[in-house]
Amino acid sequence: MELRTLSSVNGNYNLQSYEDTYNNFDWKEAEKAFFWYETGKVNMAYEAIDRHANTFRKNKIALYFRNETRNEKYTFKELKELSDKAGNVFKATGNVEKGDRVFIFMPRSPELYIAALGAIKVGAIVGPLFEAFMEGAVKDRLEDSEAKVLVTTPELVGRVPVDQLPALKTIFLVGTDVEEDDKYKDFLKHLKTASKDLEIEWMDRTDGLILHYTSGSTGKPKGVLHVHNAMIQQYQTSKWVLDLKEEDVYWCTADPGWVTGTSYGMFGPWLTGTSNVVVGGRFKPEDWYKTIEDFGVTVWYSAPTAFRMLMGAGDEIIKKFNLDTLRHILSVGEPLNPEVIRWGMKVFNKRIHDTWWMTETGAHLICNYPCMEIKPGSMGKPIPGVEAAIVDDQGNVLPPNRMGNLAIKKGWPSMMYAIWNNQAKYDSYFLPNDWYVSGDSAYMDEDGYFWFQGRVDDVIMTSGERVGPFEVESKLLEHPAIAEAGVIGKPDPVRGEIIKAFVALLDGVEETDELKEDIRQFVKKGLAAHAAPREIEFRDKLPKTRSGKIMRRVLKAWELDLPAGDLSTMED
Ligand code: WTA
Repeated sequence: MELRTLSSVNGNYNLQSYEDTYNNFDWKEAEKAFFWYETGKVNMAYEAIDRHANTFRKNKIALYFRNETRNEKYTFKELKELSDKAGNVFKATGNVEKGDRVFIFMPRSPELYIAALGAIKVGAIVGPLFEAFMEGAVKDRLEDSEAKVLVTTPELVGRVPVDQLPALKTIFLVGTDVEEDDKYKDFLKHLKTASKDLEIEWMDRTDGLILHYTSGSTGKPKGVLHVHNAMIQQYQTSKWVLDLKEEDVYWCTADPGWVTGTSYGMFGPWLTGTSNVVVGGRFKPEDWYKTIEDFGVTVWYSAPTAFRMLMGAGDEIIKKFNLDTLRHILSVGEPLNPEVIRWGMKVFNKRIHDTWWMTETGAHLICNYPCMEIKPGSMGKPIPGVEAAIVDDQGNVLPPNRMGNLAIKKGWPSMMYAIWNNQAKYDSYFLPNDWYVSGDSAYMDEDGYFWFQGRVDDVIMTSGERVGPFEVESKLLEHPAIAEAGVIGKPDPVRGEIIKAFVALLDGVEETDELKEDIRQFVKKGLAAHAAPREIEFRDKLPKTRSGKIMRRVLKAWELDLPAGDLSTMED
């Protein structure tokens, strides 16, 4: 059994050990991997795809794609040509100029990646949306970002309230038998006939690249803007942490609607010239193992919920597959239970490496490196070039083994550049002394390992999805039977947390199981399946502050049978 992977940390640096690198590394060095280091003019899509299409990698597979009906592969050269064509398709609308938002709302498919790369090539900011989003969630995001162009499918377009989105000028449909008019266009038809010659838009390193909407504990989801400069860290961590090497076949299970699916499902692996596997469709344990076997996956990046579901499916299934190609396994999104690490050692003979980062951070910050000793249950140590600490609410650094706010010193290359249209929200992330405050509580042990303890705020992590309780509560309040609603995350052995809603009904409404189901469906149809409460409890009244704010910590205390703490602000 392998207790520690001593696989070398490669890259342009001859790294002896974690400590050596940590003490000597400077991001200025990493920038020199890119030609634009001197000119400052850059384009992510060029660096990720085109650059390799002019080298020995031109006929190397960049993308393997598989779902229930398709099984395809694309070389770097083919992806370059197709994304050049997509760039021309966007340009021809006259509605995409540098900085304009192009949103993509569709299931994983080669066209999703081709569209994203094409949009980036013409200088657009790409906004990827989960296919699971329903009308309300789609509208909030397209409205806030004032997206001008949307790429979607005939199946999903019904969830786009086009008349309520005045900024939206062109909608591309990816499918067959698309009827065109001034607004709706047939993406595949235009892609087929577009020219392969595209003039790439050269960007400044701080120009917008991608806009990910993510949830906080208050307000609507916010748009986290990342810029082209993020590539420095995405490239470097793909080498250090994912440990990607020339011959690797890499599989990241995340959808591009989530930051993991872009930073490490597109950009990171392609910046390093790695063959990238993308699988669509629903989660089935057999299909997952079969993916590893069929493609000969060597590096696999997934999430604790998925590992727990595989664990729950039993070890017998694993014996039917040859998983010997696996060299390195990683996890992100939620705490990785030591039990899951032990299971990984038993069935894959590999330790699963935990990585910690956030939508806002754009790339890995605290990780278990291949060359590091792992302490199961710990997120690992900060990567070189990143200073992490536990601070109090004033920004004072706390000593080892004290719990507090997990904070990062501002200045890592992939840090979010803005919160879309919301400077105040952006500013609220920072404490004095340039500490970025993550919203996670943690402690650091005397060896410098960080241990996740929980969220400081009320953000819910369910099956690795970040759900804002406010968004769910707002949707609940739109239900005709509901007077008040409060939503919390309730611990769950498989999903991390599930969403539990406490609901007070309007006078005279009867509390029935049918109503609970109706409420669940209402949220599911209005927001997304993963945002619908799995548990609903009726209460006559909910705990509120004198200013009328639902006190979620009291709900949580009720649920978990804990002391409710200070109740002095609660109304009578
Ligand atoms: C949580 C994910 C424990 C954490 C890329 C963070 C984790 C939030 C870990 C960000 C981990 C992420 N261990 N918790 N290794 N990784 N989290 O923005 O609470 O969807 O603040 O991005 O996920 O979620 P997000």
